[in-house]
Amino acid sequence: MTARLHLEREGGIAVIVINNPPINAGSAAVRQGLMASLETLRTDDALEGAVLMGAGSTFIAGSDLREFGQPITEPQLPAVIAAIEACGKPVVAALHGAALGGGFELALGCDARLAAPGTVIGLPEVTLGIIPGAGGTQRLPRIVGIPRAIRMICSGERMAAAAALEAGLIDQIASGNLRNAAVAYARLLKGSKHRVRDRPVPEAQTAEVTEAANAALKAGKRRPAVQAAIDAITKAAVVGIDQGLANERAVFQDLRVSREAFALRHQFFAERDSAKYPSLGDATPCTTEHVAVIGAGTMGSGIAIAMLDAGYCVLLLEQDAAALARGAERIQAHYAARVQGGKLKPDAAAACEARLQTSLDWDQLASADLIIEAVFEALDVKRQVFARIDAVARPGAVLASNTSYLDLDAIAAATTRPQDVIGLHFFSPANVMKLLEVVRGKLTAPDALATGLAVGKRLKKLPVLTGNAFGFIGNRLYAAYRSQCEFMLDEGAWPEQVDAALQIFGFAMGPFAVGDLSGLDIAWRMRQAQAATRDPSARYVHIPDRLCEAGRLGRKTGAGYYSYPEGSKGPQVDKAVHDLIAQCRADKGLTPRTISDEEIVRRVLLAIVNEAALLMGEGVAERATDVDVVLVNGFGFPRWEGGPVFWARDRGAAALQGDMAWLAELCGPGFVAGDLRHLIEHEG
Ligand code: NAI
Repeated sequence: MTARLHLEREGGIAVIVINNPPINAGSAAVRQGLMASLETLRTDDALEGAVLMGAGSTFIAGSDLREFGQPITEPQLPAVIAAIEACGKPVVAALHGAALGGGFELALGCDARLAAPGTVIGLPEVTLGIIPGAGGTQRLPRIVGIPRAIRMICSGERMAAAAALEAGLIDQIASGNLRNAAVAYARLLKGSKHRVRDRPVPEAQTAEVTEAANAALKAGKRRPAVQAAIDAITKAAVVGIDQGLANERAVFQDLRVSREAFALRHQFFAERDSAKYPSLGDATPCTTEHVAVIGAGTMGSGIAIAMLDAGYCVLLLEQDAAALARGAERIQAHYAARVQGGKLKPDAAAACEARLQTSLDWDQLASADLIIEAVFEALDVKRQVFARIDAVARPGAVLASNTSYLDLDAIAAATTRPQDVIGLHFFSPANVMKLLEVVRGKLTAPDALATGLAVGKRLKKLPVLTGNAFGFIGNRLYAAYRSQCEFMLDEGAWPEQVDAALQIFGFAMGPFAVGDLSGLDIAWRMRQAQAATRDPSARYVHIPDRLCEAGRLGRKTGAGYYSYPEGSKGPQVDKAVHDLIAQCRADKGLTPRTISDEEIVRRVLLAIVNEAALLMGEGVAERATDVDVVLVNGFGFPRWEGGPVFWARDRGAAALQGDMAWLAELCGPGFVAGDLRHLIEHEG
């Protein structure tokens, strides 16, 4: 048979083994092999049934996503499933590892499904901007009913074997030898077919369907694929299966070549490659089990929680007993809330808390494999802390700083081992945000970086490698974004208009509402510190300074770009801010003009793209697509837009050059143009 698949005979049962490493992706070659095997099953009288299974560590973990952007190759998956259903002999799917997307649709086309413990099943297509295209929207509701099918498909839920058994999606959990169990099951079914397509769709209350649909639309940000999935699933109750399947396939074919699906696939691949850096060669991560976190403030306690959740033993260290107690309380309260909210079992929470140790004794650092510093953001404080760490840490331990802006090399220079010093820049809340910047200092050894990336992976984060430059990748991109928005205030836009335009584009929040939330004083202090070295000819917007001078530091003072009167639900537009902005414009002799929402979005995207090109040119970012990973996972950029680099490539080099000339003119003095070739010229 093909190299991707082979057929073995066990008595009268054909065991069809799919072998397409690493994840047994359902590619054209796999489908061809399946068709040939099914033809053998159908025509060979010695065969009574078949088992379908995956070689290696998994069943089919998904379809080959690259195919989705290309012309159709035959046979398509629905034809393979139709051949299973039409062959007249029972076919049993033996699942292990992951049976996702097309892999699970194939299993739903079989007469029975057995799974090894630990198997996960699911239909995650909607998260990629498409809908299941091989019967998922028609066969799933025939087993679990319409409302549950909506919930599962629209959220892309991954379900563990035990839950899948309970839901009827698998027939048996095989705790012994999966293959033997599946062969025995196929023998049991001899002479019969048990097609999901022949089952009726369980009746559901209209109210329950509506509730599931509304909840799915809300959670799915009303993206087109969510609505399309709901439509396809609900059709299952009103049309026959063949019409339902034909409708589903047509919708799938349309969606798979939509811009949104291309964008989401781009982001999928960018995230999949996160943590894989050819520049690190064969650097090997150090074994890390014991982690020490210094500083039990907002970040330190969040980092400790992230580490505990990932199974690390954590030592939380402070200089200040009261601060340590507050940190420990914060961690306890966090676990208590998760247990109370039903998100975590009490014994799992207790296990996490049992791995936490708190201390004021620095000698205890000696047992740590990785030490993460999260103390105040001041260079002299950090340097003192690193000198103290250096005195006690074991040789080979990795020493990390969570600094947001400080020079990692200056911190590393306080130790006798700068090769072991990295930055691990977590984003707040550290136990929630997926992004983790791993910072490379001038003397950092590749093994230390590999350790940082491996730890990030274990934390289920998306680690991105960055050079040691002010703001690293994320905060520098964000600064360019924010200052572009401030320019537009000077030119005639209001904060609420800018925020609304960007929220409609898909940002989780607008930049001015974000500024109010995190406090305007941090950036104010930074601007004051940089005042002496700032290029005096560069364009400078005074509005944020004036707000801070007026005591408007954001939400914490009840006022910033917006006001937050007591009892108000969210930011309120404030005439005083309009007056202040109008005054700033008048001081500069600027005549405000109307700025369209389209201009706002375009300028923001261009400003980010330009900064990304600069970061690539300076070698701070190593891979253009990392910019997209950073923006989507750290700054609320809409995933379905793919990220600014996706946007730039989609726009194309010629149009982008013109756009940039326009932006440069609007920005005026101080605009530094990046070389766009860093972003546009790429493989694949
Ligand atoms: P924080 O003020 O909440 O906590 C700092 C903690 O460090 C305090 O509990 C303090 O007692 C302790 N500390 C100070 N000096 C110490 C020393 N010499 N030895 C031991 N402990 C010491 O600050 P936060 O917000 O947690 O920030 C910590 C670091 O994380 C900073 O470098 C900051 O730039 C960085 N960061 C902060 C983010 C945020 O959103 N807050 C985001 C990303 C990074």
